[in-house]
Amino acid sequence: MKMKDCNPKDPAFWEEYAKGLQKGPVNRKCMKPDTWDKAAVTYDDLDKCADYRRQVTTVLDILQQKGALDKENIVIDIACGTGTYAVKMATKCKKVVCLDISSGMLEKLKDKARKFRLSNIEIIQADWHEFSTNDKFDTVFVSMTPLLRSAENIKRFLSISRRFLAVVTWAGIRENQLLKELYREIMGKDLVQKGHDMIFPFNYLYSLGYAPHVTFFNGCWERVRPVETQVENMIWRLELYGDLRDEEKQRVRHRVEALADDRGMVKVTSRVRTCLMVVDKKERDFTCG
Ligand SMILES: C[S@@+](CC[C@H](N)C(=O)[O-])C[C@H]1O[C@@H](n2cnc3c(N)ncnc32)[C@H](O)[C@@H]1O
Repeated sequence: MKMKDCNPKDPAFWEEYAKGLQKGPVNRKCMKPDTWDKAAVTYDDLDKCADYRRQVTTVLDILQQKGALDKENIVIDIACGTGTYAVKMATKCKKVVCLDISSGMLEKLKDKARKFRLSNIEIIQADWHEFSTNDKFDTVFVSMTPLLRSAENIKRFLSISRRFLAVVTWAGIRENQLLKELYREIMGKDLVQKGHDMIFPFNYLYSLGYAPHVTFFNGCWERVRPVETQVENMIWRLELYGDLRDEEKQRVRHRVEALADDRGMVKVTSRVRTCLMVVDKKERDFTCG
């Protein structure tokens, strides 16, 4: 398509754009349950980071202010992971349906639901692509998942929402210095993380006539972990792009070990910008006069 024929206000433009985001090994790996089962073990380490906790609290506050988490509301958290948001939403609304493909993630969520005695959480282990429902939900919540790279998915999120669609995703800045350096050293080129960003979901919703309310969060996400855990995490991240040889894994280990403090702990920081987008379906069909 030539530049002069492009119309970014036409959903077809963004549907075509999204097809490009779904190609490549990272996207395929991020849809597999095994990938997330591995990540589940240390996923909640981020809960210890003050910037991240602030983001989660602010997201929930905004949703509550907008009426998307009322006492009578039924919410679905699609790709809920370990339930970082779901367990907190469950204390504010009638019921939260939690769907995820990864049993590892959902086991963590079940532990939390038990610990906090939450009886209004329903857990569904399923691939979103194979999930069908006739139910409608007051709020559809989708956070930090590769599912946000597809136009079909966004349309389905909207179709099962009675009123709100809330999306949390990356917003332009995602810099993990250690990952960047290791990627360069091992893969011999610069790391480009282009797939997962607000550009597609925001513009697609906009082209469909919605006006997503956007709130940005700047943060320094710190994860302090023992050497071994940090090594495994770095290998997990790098292997999203392709399997590493033993010698390459050793290089990761040496780099991480060199960063350890005298307690054997390693701090890895990511400089990030994320955002919350909230669509209120009621706002699209406003009338004049
Ligand atoms: C980065 S985690 C985000 C978890 C949670 N939403 C959060 O914000 O903390 C991405 C999640 O997407 C889930 N996921 C990936 N592909 C999926 C699919 N096809 N169907 C359902 N869940 C999927 C993974 O299992 C994982 O839990």
